[in-house]
Amino acid sequence: MLKSIEIRKKFINFFSERSHKIVSSAPLVNKDDPTLLFTNAGMNQFKDYFLGNKVITDPRVANTQKCLRVSGKHNDLEEVGVDSYHHTMFEMLGNWSFGDYFKEEAIQWAWELLTEVYGIDPERLYATVFEGDSNDGLSHDEEARNIWREFLPDERILDFGKKDNFWEMGESGPCGPCSEIHVDLRSDEDRKMTEGALLVNRDHPEVIEIWNLVFIQFDRKADSKLQPLPAQHVDTGMGFERLCMVLQGVKSSYDTDIFAPLIAEVERITGKKYGGSYDRSKKSDIAFRVIVDHLRAVCFTIADGVLPSNTGAGYVSRRILRRAIRYYYSFLSREEPMIFMLVNQLAEQFREVFPELIAQRELVAKVIEEEERSFLRTLSEGLRRFSQLDHDSGKLSGEVAFELYDTYGFPFDLTALLAREKGLEVDEEGFKKCLKHQRERSKKDAKKTVGDWMVLQAEKSSVFLGYDQLEVERAQIVKYRITQQKNKELIHLVLDRTPFYPEGGGQVGDRGKLISDSEEITVLDTFRENELIVHRVDKLPKNPEGHFRAVIDRERRAATEANHSATHLLHAALREVLGKHVQQKGSLVAPDHLRFDFSHFQKLSQSEIQKIESLVNEKVRENIPVLEERSIPLEQAREKGAIMLFGEKYEDEVRVIAFDPDYSIELCGGCHVASTGQIGFFKITSESAVASGVRRIVALTGIAAENFIREQSELMAQIKDQLKNPQDLLQAVVALQEDIKKLRSEIEDLNARQAGNLHSELKERAITVENIHLIAEVIQLDDSKALKTLVFNLEKELAPSVIITGAVIDEKPQLMIAISKEIIGDQLHAGKLIRDAAKHIRGGGGGQPFFATAGGSHVPGLASAIDHLKQAVIAAVTKTE
Ligand code: SER
Repeated sequence: MLKSIEIRKKFINFFSERSHKIVSSAPLVNKDDPTLLFTNAGMNQFKDYFLGNKVITDPRVANTQKCLRVSGKHNDLEEVGVDSYHHTMFEMLGNWSFGDYFKEEAIQWAWELLTEVYGIDPERLYATVFEGDSNDGLSHDEEARNIWREFLPDERILDFGKKDNFWEMGESGPCGPCSEIHVDLRSDEDRKMTEGALLVNRDHPEVIEIWNLVFIQFDRKADSKLQPLPAQHVDTGMGFERLCMVLQGVKSSYDTDIFAPLIAEVERITGKKYGGSYDRSKKSDIAFRVIVDHLRAVCFTIADGVLPSNTGAGYVSRRILRRAIRYYYSFLSREEPMIFMLVNQLAEQFREVFPELIAQRELVAKVIEEEERSFLRTLSEGLRRFSQLDHDSGKLSGEVAFELYDTYGFPFDLTALLAREKGLEVDEEGFKKCLKHQRERSKKDAKKTVGDWMVLQAEKSSVFLGYDQLEVERAQIVKYRITQQKNKELIHLVLDRTPFYPEGGGQVGDRGKLISDSEEITVLDTFRENELIVHRVDKLPKNPEGHFRAVIDRERRAATEANHSATHLLHAALREVLGKHVQQKGSLVAPDHLRFDFSHFQKLSQSEIQKIESLVNEKVRENIPVLEERSIPLEQAREKGAIMLFGEKYEDEVRVIAFDPDYSIELCGGCHVASTGQIGFFKITSESAVASGVRRIVALTGIAAENFIREQSELMAQIKDQLKNPQDLLQAVVALQEDIKKLRSEIEDLNARQAGNLHSELKERAITVENIHLIAEVIQLDDSKALKTLVFNLEKELAPSVIITGAVIDEKPQLMIAISKEIIGDQLHAGKLIRDAAKHIRGGGGGQPFFATAGGSHVPGLASAIDHLKQAVIAAVTKTE
């Protein structure tokens, strides 16, 4: 049996021998393309070659790409675990031609690799081709069919429409007709019985697509029109896990050597057996598959630099992990974290091909474990909430099922299961209605229409000059676009040459002005969209074809540069003081502060923070000049020991920034000071935890740091002044605290004494109504603990009794009622009584039948509240009699 590692290798070698450059996988999390959260196809990283935004240096490329299809156009999440071949994260083997070979070679090589190298029986293969689409004005792909005729009989070349045979990355972008290869894995008997051609594209688990050859020829515009591209390209994608399933002769990708060892480990941890069933009611088998699948998606997202969170990619990763947790919790009876235990095995499995996981396995496991713990806590709170529900009606409303889903992450299945155990019926329709309502609301919130680029200068690209220039004369607009977002109009421009730094590598985008003879446009922000540098401006120029002086806000940029260089010095200091395990996990470089997240497993001590701060300031005073190498080969940078980040996609040529190469050297595209002295002064203002295993430092430089110190010392002066300028400030504060402690205990004594006096006074004033002792008084006791003891004691001593007090505690009115257990009744119910009375003090309250309290805001209402209670109790007592 061919191992998966060998299968991958054979693919890579095959295309390498055919002059393809082998490149690495882009990160799973897409940072440069605002239209995509995750890499969903091998071609994403090459999008700009197809669109002509980037110069093609290698016309033939191949690789294996980590992909995730859990959001946007391609979303398989709900299928995962249920069937035998869908996955969240999967590897896509791909080969590409950028304006080089086209259909002929793509088909010929695919056939050769599958049948000759991998030895798949040609009789089991089918090809599909595009049948054309009148709406798009596209005709049948006769060319592809003719090429396939060399290898397959006509009856195994099948026509399919746009849904199956026209590939698009998203709502817009590069696209084209495709030709898919399907394989029929059924037994000979089954194959004789039903023609395989009838099962292609019919969701049959044994007749599946393995390879998609896309012939990229168009750009789908925002108005859904197709615009032909200047050149024709090939984009192929083969599902690696499916290929392994075919070549390893198993019926499910979960039975390949990619997943089977992980499933065995889940069996070991949970003590449950995997049955390999695809019956939808066999939830435990689905759970096994969900766990091993989701594990991969979550591990690689974290390794690629995105921590689980409540927004964006982090939120998707959190949801995937929670889906896995719910499955083991509900169907494998596992109530303890367990996914983190699988990280090591997964990391070993990918040691060669995706080494980012092995390098960060400790961090990844820690983050996952913490997420599991906290979600399991939420689940058990949800269970508690469930047990508190009023179950008398025999029904569980759709709203409650939705609350359990929305707040506690209970899938409907779980709620239904719990309800069934209690003999309750759940209103599924009501639940669906709530869900639909929420979805519609969030869709409305996210509504955004991205306009098409209006191209003014087709031949010009956008060049960044901002490392050397803060101003550019005679810049021209290459294209512009208007986007509608939540009723707001966003105007975007691309210039042919620009000094504006687009947000990236943590550094915020530049702001500034575009000035022409007749007008001044404000640049509000600058960001990158793949190869484009996009300026968000306040208005469209009256004459977009004119020339502009592009000027950035110098002060803002200078402050940002100081913070960026300080970030590098900090990064190096962290590695020196804490150790080389420190990895950057996030960074924000703004003009007014810097924020740096990094992997480290405990809180920093005060002395560590001091050491780090001193080391950075020492480097600032050394006034080290920046060493910039703008374009050196990646390998050379690596040899020099430049720090690289996981989750970044580096080009073959990179930029290296060093402040003394023996101290700080990093790959970086950002803006920096000319020498470290310009940072002025570095001050850490906080150190905290972001997630398990990830710490955060916030720091200031230059004027901001100076202001911070000034504010601190002013505050100190004010405190001193307040304390009458003591010789020793610390000693004075300690003395103050001791005084407070002493006074507090004196007050407690006094209160106790007062409560004692009150006790005898109240007892004397108790009245008797139908054999029940009743006290209802407003009293002077500003201590709720003492008051409670007093009320309880009186209730016991005078039992059967009703004790009602009103008091002002911490300047707020408070009511308290205690009723002896033996006389509690429907009317004599402390919780119910107090609810009405609370209105007099403009507040609310509640409690048990024998004891209840209420707080409010209206002290003058205390007397009438007490009176109300007194009358209510008397009425109740007399009525009962
Ligand atoms: N882009 C195509 C796909 O994802 C082929 O790589 O299927």
